[in-house]
Parts: sequence; C-alpha cells; structure tokens
Amino acid sequence: MANLWAGRFSKKMESIVEEFNASIGVDSRLYACDIRGSIAHVTMLAAQGLVTEQERDEIIAGLTEIEGEIARGEFAFDLSQEDIHMAVEGALIGRLGETGKRLHTARSRNDQVAVDTRLYMKDAIREMIGSLRRLQEVLLEQASRHTSTLMVGFTHMQHAQPVTVGFHLMAYFQMFLRDIQRLEDVYKRTDQNPLGSCALAGTTLPIDRHLTTRLLGFAAPTENAMDSVSDRDYLLEFLSAASIGMMHVSRMAEEFVYWSSQEFGYITLDDGFCTGSSIMPQKKNPDVAELLRGKTGRVYGDLVALLTVMKGTPMAYNKDFQEDKERVFDALDTWRTSVEILAGMLEKTDFNADTIASHMDKGFLAATDLAESLVKAQVPFREAHEIVGRLVRACEEQNCRLEELPQQVLDTVDPRVTREMVSALTMKGCVEARTSFGGTAPSEVERQIAAGRQWLDQTSQ
Ligand code: ARG
Repeated sequence: MANLWAGRFSKKMESIVEEFNASIGVDSRLYACDIRGSIAHVTMLAAQGLVTEQERDEIIAGLTEIEGEIARGEFAFDLSQEDIHMAVEGALIGRLGETGKRLHTARSRNDQVAVDTRLYMKDAIREMIGSLRRLQEVLLEQASRHTSTLMVGFTHMQHAQPVTVGFHLMAYFQMFLRDIQRLEDVYKRTDQNPLGSCALAGTTLPIDRHLTTRLLGFAAPTENAMDSVSDRDYLLEFLSAASIGMMHVSRMAEEFVYWSSQEFGYITLDDGFCTGSSIMPQKKNPDVAELLRGKTGRVYGDLVALLTVMKGTPMAYNKDFQEDKERVFDALDTWRTSVEILAGMLEKTDFNADTIASHMDKGFLAATDLAESLVKAQVPFREAHEIVGRLVRACEEQNCRLEELPQQVLDTVDPRVTREMVSALTMKGCVEARTSFGGTAPSEVERQIAAGRQWLDQTSQ
C-alpha cells in the first residue's frame, strides 16, 4: 500500500529506512486507544457539521470492525503502515474509500499519538496502583503475623536496636504507599486531552475540543496546542515514579537475598521463587529476588533514555519523540511484573522466628535502652551515652553481655547504673517499651497496621 502521505513524493522509501522509521512493532499496543480516540473525534466532527451523521456511523462501524480484527489477531500489520495510526486509518480507507478519508480532518498524528498515549497511561496507572495495593495487602498480612517476632534492627548493616519483623515490613508498606501517591499525582497531569491540537497550532476548522474531552473522559483539554504535541513530561514523570518504585522493590529484594543466605537464615523462600544450580546439587538460589534487583537498573535506563531523547529537541513535534513508547512500555511491564512477583514471593515466605531471635545476642542491641533508663534517672543523655559506652567496652574486654557485667564493674563505671536497669534489658522488654508514635512496640505496630488497613479501605477503587 502507498503511504498515506505519498502525494508529495516521487519515489518509495528505502526499505532499510522503512524499518528504521516504523514504530508499528511497538505502538500497535495502542490500537484500542487509537480507535477510541478516532471514534470520539469523528463523533465531534459530526456534531460540528464537518462530516455527516451517515459518514460518522460508517466510520464508527468500520473502526469497530478493525478493532475486532486486531483483537482477534486477524489484522495483518506491516512495516509500510509505519505506525498504528496509519495502519488503522489505512485499513479504514481500504474499507470505506472516500468516507474513510474524512476521519483525519482537523487532526494530526502528532495530537493523535499524544491522545492515544495519555489514554493508555491512564489505564496503565490505575492497573499499576492495583498491583501496588495487592503488595500492600500481603505486607499487612505478614506484618500482622509478626508484630511480636523480635529481630535485629540495623544501621550501617551493624546491629543497632531491637525491632520486630512486623515493624520492618511496615516500613515497606509506607514506601509503596508513597509510590501509589506519586502515581496518583502523575495521573492528574496525564488526564488532559491533547486531541484537536493538530500538528502544532490548532486548526481553522470549527472543532469542539471540550466535546472530545467529555467523550474520552479526560478532566480537561490541554491549554496550548504546541505544548500538547511537544512535551512528554507526563511520561517522564511516570518513568521517574517507576524508577523510585523499582528502587523500593530492589531494596526489599536485596533483603530477601541476604535474609535467605546461610549466614542469616532469617527466611525460607518458597521453592517456586528460587532456582537450582546446574552443577551444585544442594543449591537453592534466590534468583528471582536478584532479578528484581537487576531489573531496577533497566527501569532507571528507561528514564535516562527518555530524558536524553527529549533534551535539546526544538519545538514542536520531532520524530525523536517516537522513542518514548518503547521505554515507557518496558518500564511499565517491568515494574508491574516485579511488584506482582514480589507480592507472591512475600506471601509465601516463612520467617524463621527462632533463628532471627538467635542473632540478637550479639551487638549490644539494648545499649540505647540502658542509656534511656539512665535518662529516666535524671542523667543527661550525653553523659548516659558515655557511661553505656564504657560499659560496652568493659563487656568487650570481658567477653560478656551487658546483663552479665559484675556489680563491681557497674559501680566503677558509674554508681547510677543499677542492677535493676541492667537486668531489665530483655529484647522483648526493649521492643515493648518503644511505644513512641511510629515506634517498634507491638502495640504501636498494630496501630500502624490498622492505619494502613484503613488507608487501603478508604482509597479502594
Ligand atoms: N509514530 C509517531 C510517534 O510515535 C506518531 C507521530 C508521527 N508524526 C509525524 N509527524 N511523523 O511519535
């Protein structure tokens, strides 16, 4: 088939150029949005007297048939169609002849691709939020099971203070909550209708952009036609939300990797989320968690690629922008699958409470608690810090725990340190006492879980 723009040309495109220029391999994914956009467009054209009602009905029927063919896999895509917009329009003209040629009135592929992508991303964002919410559900389930399961809390990967598994998991709940909020924010700026911006400057024809905005369910038409066809910032915002979201996925995946190591043994991963070794028969490797970590680099790459594509492009539309969709679809698919896999893996993970607790003997986890007991006995915190520091040094010299220090050492270091203070330093006691808002006490984690539950219920779609 000759290109729809062949009028001005005296010869066909070089075949290597045809392949280079085409985006159909990537943007055929937009077909349903493209057809939705065209149906709204032709409905508006008829309302404005730019096509007749009969032409409108024929065009809508033709488009609906084409949509069915594509959905059933019966539509033959080929490179000469260049992109989804020309594939659909070409097929329509093939069916309807003259009437089909009226569809592209007061429209350009520049606003068409923008409207298709925005429609597509609105659905994709909602689905992505659904996947993140499912992950949050699993986090709530696992956290509820482990509000009292004691665990080492780390800073700098060194033993810091006692926490619980439930508390640790609820930290991730908050990260995924903000990922959702970021998406909701991206959604607002995606939810604007560029259709009718045409090539770059609007049109002399009496179109009604408010009508297509209503028909397509957008919040408002975009304000400036040149901006509407030129910017891809709403996609960049999505990619940056995806990059931050994947960073959260990756951090959690990394914890799964080291928690499942022989050194830690904190968790047992489900066989369905691990692989074996081709040479070492005993191996059960956390490949899936590692891949979640690795895929994060790929999504960052998508963001940086599109930032780089956009940088330095003059106004208005440039073909460079065609590179956007491959990156956005890649990030979307990768992020969505990763979140779903993470949810499935977490759901089936067993936390080995006894092994986790057995790690708490080392590292003087209760040192801050002892300093805080001294504060309760009116010792200024800096002094208390110094006193406990000296006690820890004594423990290291005598190779014992704080609770095991002889009375005489306590008296020498500082008589304000009482035996009762030291013997009260059980891990359970320390955790239960951290009742400050947002703290790790089981009562407080239960509050966080209830607040998380309430947030999910109130925001349910
Ligand atoms: N396939 C193109 C894209 O994705 C559609 C817009 C093409 N417009 C043009 N004037 N060549 O950006």
